[in-house]
Amino acid sequence: MEFTDRKQYQDHIRRVMISEEEIRAAIAKAGAEIDAEYAGKPLLLVSILKGAFVFLADLSRAVSIPCEIGFMQAQSYYEGTTSSGKVNITLDLTQDISQYHVLIVEDIIDTGRTLKLVAEELRRRNPLSLKIITLLDKPDRRVVEITADRTLFTIPDEFVIGYGLDCAEYYRNLPYIAEYSET
Ligand code: IMP
Ligand code: MG
Repeated sequence: MEFTDRKQYQDHIRRVMISEEEIRAAIAKAGAEIDAEYAGKPLLLVSILKGAFVFLADLSRAVSIPCEIGFMQAQSYYEGTTSSGKVNITLDLTQDISQYHVLIVEDIIDTGRTLKLVAEELRRRNPLSLKIITLLDKPDRRVVEITADRTLFTIPDEFVIGYGLDCAEYYRNLPYIAEYSET
């Protein structure tokens, strides 16, 4: 898929599912909760690239206590349909997380596979605490057991784009969450 035409690009956006205003309000609330929960504690916000980059950018600016930012990128491998797998970390944190309360900032939990393996890997590194915040959750699609400590929006099993989420690497730059249309 390659787009050069703006009209064609817009045609795949079926409808806005979550508006900029709704996202902004939910993030302001989450930021205030993070401020209260982690006040006086060394906090590291860890984002899993690429999808969570927009959420992290906005969430981190809704947090007013001192915090550090880290990035990871991971690929997960599963054998057949089993729920156990291996994770290949292609970009890792530079911090020794045993000194931090770690909050994983995720864009969406779908099957939950990647996040589960990343969380297990981080837990092995003995952070002071480990929690997960996700912008979106599609609980109907879950194949492994994992729940976020905070979910901003629970959505039905629809493929969504925008606000960091892509379809074939496009649409990450939409300022809202939209339903993707194949045709
Ligand atoms: P999983 O939870 O391991 O299945 O994978 C979650 C990842 O799949 C997310 O971090 C997204 O990158 C991607 N993903 C899942 N659902 C969607 C969607 O509706 N739109 C765009 N990307 C999605
Ligand atoms: Mg992702």
